[in-house]
Amino acid sequence: KGDSGLSEVNLMKRQVTALEGQLKALQASFSKYQKVAAFPGGRIVGNKVFVTSGYEGNFDDLKQRCQQAGGQLASPRNAAENTAVQEIVVQYKKSVFLGVTDIQTEGRFKYLNGEAIVYSNWNTGEPNNDKRQENCVEVYSNGKWNDKSCGERRLMLCEF
Ligand code: IPD
Ligand code: CA
Repeated sequence: KGDSGLSEVNLMKRQVTALEGQLKALQASFSKYQKVAAFPGGRIVGNKVFVTSGYEGNFDDLKQRCQQAGGQLASPRNAAENTAVQEIVVQYKKSVFLGVTDIQTEGRFKYLNGEAIVYSNWNTGEPNNDKRQENCVEVYSNGKWNDKSCGERRLMLCEF
Protein backbone atom coordinates (compact mmCIF):
# COMPACT_ATOMS: atom_id res chain seq x y z
CA LYS A 1 0.00 0.00 0.00
CA GLY A 2 3.06 2.28 0.51
CA ASP A 3 3.74 2.79 -3.20
CA SER A 4 0.15 3.25 -4.30
CA GLY A 5 -0.39 5.80 -1.52
CA LEU A 6 2.51 7.85 -2.81
CA SER A 7 1.32 7.77 -6.43
CA GLU A 8 -2.14 8.83 -5.25
CA VAL A 9 -0.59 11.89 -3.62
CA ASN A 10 1.34 12.65 -6.80
CA LEU A 11 -1.84 12.26 -8.86
CA MET A 12 -3.68 14.67 -6.57
CA LYS A 13 -0.82 17.16 -6.78
CA ARG A 14 -1.09 17.12 -10.55
CA GLN A 15 -4.87 17.53 -10.34
CA VAL A 16 -4.52 20.51 -7.98
CA THR A 17 -2.00 22.15 -10.34
CA ALA A 18 -4.36 21.61 -13.26
CA LEU A 19 -7.30 23.07 -11.29
CA GLU A 20 -5.21 26.08 -10.31
CA GLY A 21 -4.57 26.79 -13.97
CA GLN A 22 -8.23 26.34 -14.87
CA LEU A 23 -9.33 28.60 -11.98
CA LYS A 24 -6.93 31.33 -13.09
CA ALA A 25 -8.27 31.17 -16.64
CA LEU A 26 -11.86 31.21 -15.36
CA GLN A 27 -11.17 34.22 -13.13
CA ALA A 28 -9.66 36.15 -16.03
CA SER A 29 -12.57 35.26 -18.30
CA PHE A 30 -15.16 36.09 -15.63
CA SER A 31 -13.66 39.46 -14.86
CA LYS A 32 -13.82 40.28 -18.58
CA TYR A 33 -17.50 39.26 -18.79
CA GLN A 34 -18.27 41.37 -15.72
CA LYS A 35 -16.93 44.42 -17.54
CA VAL A 36 -18.86 43.54 -20.71
CA ALA A 37 -22.08 43.06 -18.72
CA ALA A 38 -21.73 46.46 -17.11
CA PHE A 39 -20.99 48.31 -20.36
CA PRO A 40 -22.75 50.39 -21.53
CA GLY A 41 -26.42 49.41 -20.97
CA GLY A 42 -25.77 47.14 -18.02
CA ARG A 43 -25.37 47.27 -14.27
CA ILE A 44 -24.21 44.62 -11.81
CA VAL A 45 -25.78 44.72 -8.33
CA GLY A 46 -24.75 41.84 -6.11
CA ASN A 47 -25.53 38.64 -8.02
CA LYS A 48 -27.90 40.40 -10.41
CA VAL A 49 -27.11 41.85 -13.83
CA PHE A 50 -29.42 44.38 -15.51
CA VAL A 51 -29.02 44.72 -19.28
CA THR A 52 -30.81 46.68 -21.99
CA SER A 53 -30.30 46.32 -25.72
CA GLY A 54 -32.05 49.63 -26.32
CA TYR A 55 -35.13 47.85 -27.70
CA GLU A 56 -38.56 49.36 -27.02
CA GLY A 57 -41.90 47.58 -27.00
CA ASN A 58 -45.09 46.94 -25.07
CA PHE A 59 -45.09 44.92 -21.85
CA ASP A 60 -45.91 41.52 -23.39
CA ASP A 61 -43.26 41.96 -26.06
CA LEU A 62 -40.56 43.00 -23.56
CA LYS A 63 -41.50 40.24 -21.11
CA GLN A 64 -41.24 37.64 -23.84
CA ARG A 65 -37.90 38.93 -25.14
CA CYS A 66 -36.29 38.90 -21.70
CA GLN A 67 -37.59 35.37 -21.10
CA GLN A 68 -36.34 34.23 -24.52
CA ALA A 69 -32.88 35.51 -23.57
CA GLY A 70 -32.92 33.40 -20.40
CA GLY A 71 -33.70 36.30 -18.06
CA GLN A 72 -36.77 38.25 -17.01
CA LEU A 73 -37.94 41.86 -16.96
CA ALA A 74 -36.09 43.97 -14.39
CA SER A 75 -37.60 43.41 -10.95
CA PRO A 76 -35.72 45.57 -8.43
CA ARG A 77 -36.17 44.09 -4.95
CA ASN A 78 -34.35 46.82 -2.98
CA ALA A 79 -33.14 50.43 -3.22
CA ALA A 80 -29.71 49.49 -4.61
CA GLU A 81 -31.29 47.53 -7.47
CA ASN A 82 -33.78 50.33 -8.11
CA THR A 83 -30.94 52.85 -8.33
CA ALA A 84 -29.25 50.67 -10.97
CA VAL A 85 -32.51 50.63 -12.95
CA GLN A 86 -32.82 54.40 -12.55
CA GLU A 87 -29.28 54.92 -13.87
CA ILE A 88 -30.15 53.05 -17.06
CA VAL A 89 -33.38 55.09 -17.46
CA VAL A 90 -31.28 58.27 -17.15
CA GLN A 91 -28.59 56.97 -19.50
CA TYR A 92 -31.10 56.05 -22.25
CA LYS A 93 -33.50 58.92 -21.47
CA LYS A 94 -36.33 56.37 -21.68
CA SER A 95 -38.44 54.83 -18.96
CA VAL A 96 -38.59 51.05 -18.59
CA PHE A 97 -41.31 48.57 -17.72
CA LEU A 98 -40.64 46.41 -14.68
CA GLY A 99 -41.47 42.74 -14.20
CA VAL A 100 -44.22 43.86 -11.82
CA THR A 101 -47.98 44.03 -12.56
CA ASP A 102 -51.38 43.95 -10.91
CA ILE A 103 -52.93 42.19 -13.91
CA GLN A 104 -54.20 39.32 -11.76
CA THR A 105 -55.82 41.38 -8.97
CA GLU A 106 -56.26 45.15 -9.23
CA GLY A 107 -54.12 46.93 -6.65
CA ARG A 108 -52.01 43.90 -5.72
CA PHE A 109 -48.69 44.24 -7.48
CA LYS A 110 -46.74 41.03 -8.00
CA TYR A 111 -43.59 39.80 -9.70
CA LEU A 112 -43.96 37.70 -12.82
CA ASN A 113 -43.70 34.52 -10.72
CA GLY A 114 -46.78 35.56 -8.72
CA GLU A 115 -44.91 36.59 -5.56
CA ALA A 116 -46.17 39.80 -3.88
CA ILE A 117 -43.64 42.62 -4.29
CA VAL A 118 -41.20 43.07 -1.40
CA TYR A 119 -40.07 46.57 -2.45
CA SER A 120 -41.66 49.53 -4.22
CA ASN A 121 -40.79 53.14 -4.96
CA TRP A 122 -44.12 54.67 -6.02
CA ASN A 123 -44.26 58.28 -7.13
CA THR A 124 -46.57 60.48 -5.04
CA GLY A 125 -50.18 59.60 -5.83
CA GLU A 126 -49.30 56.31 -7.53
CA PRO A 127 -50.43 53.70 -8.25
CA ASN A 128 -53.65 55.42 -9.40
CA ASN A 129 -54.86 52.98 -12.08
CA ASP A 130 -55.59 55.98 -14.33
CA LYS A 131 -58.64 55.41 -16.56
CA ARG A 132 -58.78 52.00 -14.84
CA GLN A 133 -56.31 50.64 -17.33
CA GLU A 134 -52.87 50.79 -15.68
CA ASN A 135 -51.59 47.35 -14.68
CA CYS A 136 -47.91 47.71 -15.57
CA VAL A 137 -45.15 49.70 -13.87
CA GLU A 138 -42.76 52.19 -15.42
CA VAL A 139 -39.74 53.81 -13.78
CA TYR A 140 -39.14 57.54 -14.22
CA SER A 141 -35.71 59.17 -14.45
CA ASN A 142 -35.99 60.06 -10.74
CA GLY A 143 -36.32 56.36 -9.96
CA LYS A 144 -39.96 56.69 -8.91
CA TRP A 145 -42.59 54.19 -10.08
CA ASN A 146 -45.84 54.88 -11.96
CA ASP A 147 -48.47 52.36 -12.93
CA LYS A 148 -49.06 52.65 -16.66
CA SER A 149 -51.00 50.92 -19.41
CA CYS A 150 -49.21 47.70 -20.48
CA GLY A 151 -49.87 48.59 -24.12
CA GLU A 152 -47.50 51.58 -24.01
CA ARG A 153 -44.00 51.12 -25.42
CA ARG A 154 -41.09 51.34 -23.01
CA LEU A 155 -37.38 50.53 -22.96
CA MET A 156 -36.60 46.85 -22.45
CA LEU A 157 -34.52 46.13 -19.36
CA CYS A 158 -33.85 42.50 -18.49
CA GLU A 159 -32.23 41.01 -15.42
CA PHE A 160 -30.11 37.87 -15.29
C1 IPD B 1 -50.62 60.32 -16.70
C2 IPD B 1 -50.22 61.15 -15.50
C3 IPD B 1 -50.64 60.48 -14.23
C4 IPD B 1 -50.18 59.04 -14.12
C5 IPD B 1 -50.62 58.27 -15.31
C6 IPD B 1 -50.15 58.90 -16.58
P1 IPD B 1 -50.96 61.60 -18.96
O1 IPD B 1 -50.02 60.87 -17.86
O2 IPD B 1 -48.84 61.33 -15.49
O3 IPD B 1 -50.12 61.20 -13.12
O4 IPD B 1 -50.67 58.44 -12.98
O5 IPD B 1 -50.14 56.97 -15.21
O6 IPD B 1 -50.66 58.15 -17.68
O7 IPD B 1 -51.94 60.57 -19.46
O8 IPD B 1 -51.61 62.73 -18.27
O9 IPD B 1 -49.98 62.03 -20.01
CA1 CA C 1 -50.43 55.91 -12.92
